[in-house]
Amino acid sequence: MIHCFFNVRTFSYMISLSILMAFSGCGPDGGSAGDDSYDVHSYAKPAEALVTHIDLDLSVNFDKKELAGTAALSISNKSGTNKLHLDTRDLTIEKVTLDEAGTETAFTLGEAAPYLGQEMIVDILPETRKVTIHYRSAPQAEALQWLSPSQTAGGQHPFLFTQSQAILARTWVPCQDSPGIRITYTATIRTDPSLMAVMSAENGTVKTEDGIYTFKMTQPIPSYLLALAVGDIEYRALGPRSGVYAEPSVIAKAAFEFGDTERMMDAAEALYGPYRWDKYDIIVLPPSFPFGGMENPRLTFATPTILAGDRSLVSLVAHELAHSWSGNLVTNATWNDFWLNEGFTVYFEYRIMEALYGAEYANMLAQLGFQDCQAAIKSMGADSPDTHLFLNLKGRNPDDGMTSIAYDKGSLFLRMLEQEFGREKFDDFLKTYFNEFAFKTMTSRGFLEYMNNHLLNSDPALRQRLQIDEWIYGPGLPSNSPKPTTEEFRKVETQVSAWSDGKSAADLQIDQWTTHHWLHFLRSLPNEISSERMADLDQTFGFTRSGNSEIQFAWFMHTIANKYQPADQALHDFLTGVGRRKFIKPLFEQLIKTEDGRKRAESVYKEARPGYHPVTYQTIDEILDWKTD
Ligand code: BES
Ligand code: ZN
Repeated sequence: MIHCFFNVRTFSYMISLSILMAFSGCGPDGGSAGDDSYDVHSYAKPAEALVTHIDLDLSVNFDKKELAGTAALSISNKSGTNKLHLDTRDLTIEKVTLDEAGTETAFTLGEAAPYLGQEMIVDILPETRKVTIHYRSAPQAEALQWLSPSQTAGGQHPFLFTQSQAILARTWVPCQDSPGIRITYTATIRTDPSLMAVMSAENGTVKTEDGIYTFKMTQPIPSYLLALAVGDIEYRALGPRSGVYAEPSVIAKAAFEFGDTERMMDAAEALYGPYRWDKYDIIVLPPSFPFGGMENPRLTFATPTILAGDRSLVSLVAHELAHSWSGNLVTNATWNDFWLNEGFTVYFEYRIMEALYGAEYANMLAQLGFQDCQAAIKSMGADSPDTHLFLNLKGRNPDDGMTSIAYDKGSLFLRMLEQEFGREKFDDFLKTYFNEFAFKTMTSRGFLEYMNNHLLNSDPALRQRLQIDEWIYGPGLPSNSPKPTTEEFRKVETQVSAWSDGKSAADLQIDQWTTHHWLHFLRSLPNEISSERMADLDQTFGFTRSGNSEIQFAWFMHTIANKYQPADQALHDFLTGVGRRKFIKPLFEQLIKTEDGRKRAESVYKEARPGYHPVTYQTIDEILDWKTD
């Protein structure tokens, strides 16, 4: 049953809309332009013809920086249409054929729109079941980063990895690129025999002799979870269901760092039900990977910057693992509902961390997240619609909505509910929710309705008292927001005060401090610090040369603001060696606050940019107003 529903103000508008509908059909989940499950970031018309499965056959060409081959799309024609609408961006389409007979068919490509790419319309017949697209990707495809050997740990072999979230899958696979549409897939990937290919699918653990790898993903996933990595990698098991892939020189360090993965899986299952994806592996990518982690199913992609040597940054693994429920199992219907993926995942991440390392640890993470949330609200403006959980990203790049609001305000909302209903009841509710909507999509409104029926007892007074609508559809943090605090951080604040009052760093009481104590310490320092006092900290605690990327990052924010020159070389090495956007972006923003800093930013960026992933360099191009030709 298809529901096409919209709010209309005038009759003439209604007529023009219905004419429009006749041509455009409905969006994902049978929604239409006035429906909150309609995806403004996709050209697909799944209510007309839906892609249900993709067979990929791609050759990896490092010289040309090109993936070339075929994508065979299985379709379910819902309406007897003779058009299939797809998303593409920067793809060269050679030809399109239909069904097993391989009859060539006509197609058109629409005008290229910024970030959305080109609509592809393929002529089909009502009885067509398979559409095979012969195509190649562009060297500048935004989902792909082609690394030269010198950009890898081993320095001997090239490396390729993809990043499809949010709407970049269309730059390497012609598809219906909307999170509300799920597909199964198989793939044959052909590469040089010195390299190994892995995907968000069933993976092998050793290289093949001919460099040909076949994959199968039998559980239906949204296109943003399509993922591929190719490089000189090897595998090491961590436990019966988990393991790690990394370059040979990194594998031992990675295996140690992720030693608690199997326990995390057990803790997650104890909370919210069985892990439904069989294996959980992690691949450690080269340092240019633009994110901390990406929850590609069965195979989390991770930055090497979490290899601190002491397992202190593994909440990232808990986070990506948690997405196996929140996001990969129950998926945001559109990018307006991004908080359903990330807010739930951050909440779940903290619960896993609490189960493994205790409540104090998890509360330190929550307090840092709360600080991030407050800072985000402050920088966006307390009334900004971008601080709503439910977003309106129409006409904007979905990337614009991927802020701390979805993550931290989202998790605070769930924490508020937990506190209100008690753990037992709230955990039961979440477990049932994940089960009920497994392999389905969810809108914010759909979640509220489900919660209203299953948690709030359909009690309007309760809904009002908990300010549910303010949380989802209103700005900032409602007055009933939890404010996570910890005793451990109070101790840190005492030491910051003592140091600010002139005590020397060597006399501070820092026994048994962990990475998170240090992060709170660094975040709590005054903005203005003299060179002598910076040197006092640095000589005592060795921040500049810390092996912990989070600590280094927090420290560099101060070294830039206070022009602390002894850190300049290390900052330069960090900016040219690491491409993780969460670090790189604020550092450049901090640099350009002064004239002298801007000059430094320009010069280091010139050097660093060729090594950054498109996702990172596009962000920095904007910050520096960098013109590319
Ligand atoms: N799914 C996100 C990464 C992402 C979000 C990629 C939006 C593209 C668009 C992933 O789960 C994530 O949140 N990663 C965080 C780490 C996490 C511990 C908060 C990151 O990369 O920093
Ligand atoms: Zn996430």
